[in-house]
Amino acid sequence: MPESETSYRQSRQGRGLDYHDRFTRNPRRRMMWKIEQRILDRALDQIHDEQAAEIAYLDFACGTGRVLAFVSARTDTATGVDISESMLEVAATSAPKAELISADITLGNSPLTGRTFDLITAFRFFPNAEESLRTEAISALSACLKPGGRLILNNHRSRSSLRQRLVRLLTLGRRGHSGMSHHEVTQLVTAAGLEIEQVAHAGVVPEHEWLLLRPRFVVEWFERLATQLPLSLLAENLVYTCRRPVAETVRQAA
Ligand SMILES: C[S@@+](CC[C@H](N)C(=O)[O-])C[C@H]1O[C@@H](n2cnc3c(N)ncnc32)[C@H](O)[C@@H]1O
Repeated sequence: MPESETSYRQSRQGRGLDYHDRFTRNPRRRMMWKIEQRILDRALDQIHDEQAAEIAYLDFACGTGRVLAFVSARTDTATGVDISESMLEVAATSAPKAELISADITLGNSPLTGRTFDLITAFRFFPNAEESLRTEAISALSACLKPGGRLILNNHRSRSSLRQRLVRLLTLGRRGHSGMSHHEVTQLVTAAGLEIEQVAHAGVVPEHEWLLLRPRFVVEWFERLATQLPLSLLAENLVYTCRRPVAETVRQAA
């Protein structure tokens, strides 16, 4: 984990189209994204079942608009926020109806101050970010959630994944410690006053995007099946649906 305060904030500057294309070009990324879409669809079904009123949606660290474009097809309003202009340029094309904001809401003077959302997503952000940035981001996001609202975030670099376990074994513990553990995600989320409602998983087969197992249809069949099995401890990508408790308002009002 880089120690510099600004390193992850700066890391995606100047990137865009190449990042976006990888979700269609790379077979593993494409497969993971399909599974994530199913997870997001299930969450949206639940939100629609529960909520008749309009759904206000925010995608934090929206990047090129991959998640923003998909989710916003089922919400009434959609806002994407990111600090990289080059990523946002692609988002303007992939999610043309969404409001796009170029800002760092983890710092003071956030343009989102006073606005709240029913649903927030934050994909491929937390395990990449430095610890201080993770804490700043989760508290900024928690403040933007309506009571009962949901934050769906993922840890696409789970430290307990079969792949990281193998890397640790093969390198005698020298490598294979990147990303976050389930315990770290739980602590981060609960410290921000949120409850974990559900954890879905994807990516059990220990392969790398550039070192793929074949035949692909067998890997993809197994990975689809694995999402239904209790294998989250071995999965690379954990998707957390978190909720801001409704009771909080009752306690505050009392
Ligand atoms: C790996 S990309 C993920 C993009 C998108 N969420 C996805 O899953 O495709 C991470 C994004 O986080 C953005 N980012 C980093 N620090 C940020 C911050 N402090 N506030 C908002 N966005 C930030 C980067 O600019 C980059 O676009």
